[in-house]
Amino acid sequence: TNEYETILTEQRGRVGWITLNRPQALNALNSQVAEEVTAAATAFDADPGVGAIVVTGSEKAFAAGADIKEMEAMSAAEITATDHFGVWRDFAAVRTPVIAAVSGFALGGGCELAMMCDIILAADNAKFGQPEVNLGVIPGMGGTQRLIRAVGYYKAAELVLSGRIIGAEEAERAGLVSRIVPTADLLAEASTLAETIASKSLPSIIAAKATLDAAMETTLAVGLDIEREAFASLFDTVDQKEGMAAFREKRPPQFVNR
Ligand code: CAA
Repeated sequence: TNEYETILTEQRGRVGWITLNRPQALNALNSQVAEEVTAAATAFDADPGVGAIVVTGSEKAFAAGADIKEMEAMSAAEITATDHFGVWRDFAAVRTPVIAAVSGFALGGGCELAMMCDIILAADNAKFGQPEVNLGVIPGMGGTQRLIRAVGYYKAAELVLSGRIIGAEEAERAGLVSRIVPTADLLAEASTLAETIASKSLPSIIAAKATLDAAMETTLAVGLDIEREAFASLFDTVDQKEGMAAFREKRPPQFVNR
């Protein structure tokens, strides 16, 4: 049973899957999609049985952007009063690692959704861009901020100011993509990667993601302090003792996620 209308969700082993499912609109992210993706991700995040989350779309489209038809008639006051896109803050705050498995179009809000994830696996047919200037607006789900952090000012500025769409290879060269895989292998590769992450000790994975996130927000000195404290805190876990004992005893670790 699926409690959502615009997405499909499934838990396979320790991996939570969220598949955008509005094919008639190339997975355009309307408010319902935003709420459902965020609710599903938040639920997986709260479940200690889930150690990694995958967000994906269809072969043709990861997501073609925020829903233009939903926004067209809105006023500035309405966008502000309804905190349009605000729900995505909760998605970005998920502590469990999230892999975006991107095939086809990841444009506007679709590219921004991918950038809210921790890892972007791109099929070789993936296309990324921030084409909002073609609509008389600008990115509104973090594109101006996260794209700069991913690819640097000059690449981000060219893409945001021109609306030019780039392919998977250019996106990988720019640092927007973690890795390119053949389109037919995308879901299998995402699954293998997610299972690998989910097989580690959850406290270490949550600490790693939180510390990586801190690097996006803070100075080097503060970030190094955050890392030092997080590193030290893991020495109170059962899994640190187990992981290091297993290394010494030349056997695979048996993590208990605490
Ligand atoms: N919003 C609403 N509907 C969308 C959509 C979007 N972002 N993208 C595609 N659709 C709809 C189309 O309107 C079409 O619906 P109808 O059949 O009812 O007309 C359906 O999806 C299929 O799309 P196309 O016929 O256009 O498919 P195509 O293969 O010819 O073109 C495309 C694909 C190049 C991706 C094209 O659909 C397109 O340019 N989409 C819009 C991309 C865009 O501008 N994204 C940014 C949106 S604004 C934003 O995201 C703001 C933000 O920062 C959060």
